[in-house]
Amino acid sequence: MSTKRTVHIGLLGFGVVGQGVWKNIEKNRQALEYRLGASLEISQVVVKNAEKKRDVAVPAERYSTDPARVVDNPDIDIVCELMGGTGEALELTRRALAQGKIVVTANKALICEHGEELFATAHANGGHYFYEASVAGGIPIIKTIREALVANRFKLIYGILNGTSNYILTRMEREGLSFDETLGDARRLGYVEADEALDLDGIDAAHKTVILTYLAHGKWVGLDQIICEGIREITGDDIATASELGFKIKLLAVIQRDFSQNQLSVRLHPALIEKSEVVAGVDEVYNAVSVTGDVVGTTILIGRGAGQDATSSSVISDIADAVFMLQGAPSPVISEEDATLYRELADGLELTPAEALKGRYYLRIQVKDEEGVLARISNILAAQHISLATVKQKAIAGGTASLMLTTHETEESSVLAAKKDLAAQGTVLADPVCFRIFNPSAS
Ligand code: HSE
Repeated sequence: MSTKRTVHIGLLGFGVVGQGVWKNIEKNRQALEYRLGASLEISQVVVKNAEKKRDVAVPAERYSTDPARVVDNPDIDIVCELMGGTGEALELTRRALAQGKIVVTANKALICEHGEELFATAHANGGHYFYEASVAGGIPIIKTIREALVANRFKLIYGILNGTSNYILTRMEREGLSFDETLGDARRLGYVEADEALDLDGIDAAHKTVILTYLAHGKWVGLDQIICEGIREITGDDIATASELGFKIKLLAVIQRDFSQNQLSVRLHPALIEKSEVVAGVDEVYNAVSVTGDVVGTTILIGRGAGQDATSSSVISDIADAVFMLQGAPSPVISEEDATLYRELADGLELTPAEALKGRYYLRIQVKDEEGVLARISNILAAQHISLATVKQKAIAGGTASLMLTTHETEESSVLAAKKDLAAQGTVLADPVCFRIFNPSAS
């Protein structure tokens, strides 16, 4: 007869991911039992609206709208917060962690905004806060950085952390569609978050970038301290021009540490990246994370960054770690919950201000198509010591044209000043658009 322990799980939230966790635990129940030496039982499911039709039918005695049946229930071993948001989710996570419970979450916004407090609460009360599913869906990036690459310090972590914007950019590139046309399809396919700004303005990917920054460097940064730019300004012309020059345009998260200066640059923005880079070839809804460690070199993980099965794979991986903890196995994790200890990693680490960045840039400037315009523009750039690498002009109807320029290496502060001067020119018809060119080898 089996003596396997039954581990009781409570789910807060039963949307796409919650139902995925249920389905996939059922699907691979036997394999999980062999691997964990325990049987997983989802004993309570808490929803906001019990009347809502769902794919998975939960027995009535396990289904309620009462979070106390999970959070304050001594029989629940693992709390999975899959409700999202930073309101009730915060209050319930706090309450569970304050009781020393193990909480598993997929909630990137919550960790980004309240991670420091929640990790401290977990640590102070002997519980634990697991968050693999919060970054890059099914890609095991948290475990990889925390465990598999523990021998390393991380000079550069960069990649694609938002599947929806990657899908939009891929369709624009492959089919020559406009941003709006592609966005329409992304909406129809259900890829875009209810709050579209999360995907389109880079906020979702910035949340994930903040989490990776803390994990890799022990430093919490606020969204307001980092460059966070989304994909709304990217046009088909930008993508076509970038392609002619050998680049793709991707929404990139970049976490770059200069160990000699003890500086850290954290940013999320569209960037031109050479087509030959592996990350540049990662299209559609896929995510990619490239991690360069001082010991291992560069390791790149690619996979599904969203969706029911991919995300629930990560949640179940955290549940598995929680089961090992409950069984008294050595903790599989290093101490990112112990802020005192973990912060020593950051040890005087300063955030690099955005203006201090250096690199190459792509500029698109809409101008009146008349004599002397190019000369005036190049004078403005020259006044900021910006040297041009390539120039392309495309006529637009009504006597206007788009100038698409790339620069040699220059300083971000010079580009920002030039953008301002250009916008003030009578022949420049709209605020210039500027994207950074990202060269991972230059880090
Ligand atoms: N909206 C997110 C994305 C979902 O597109 O990647 C996963 O966090």
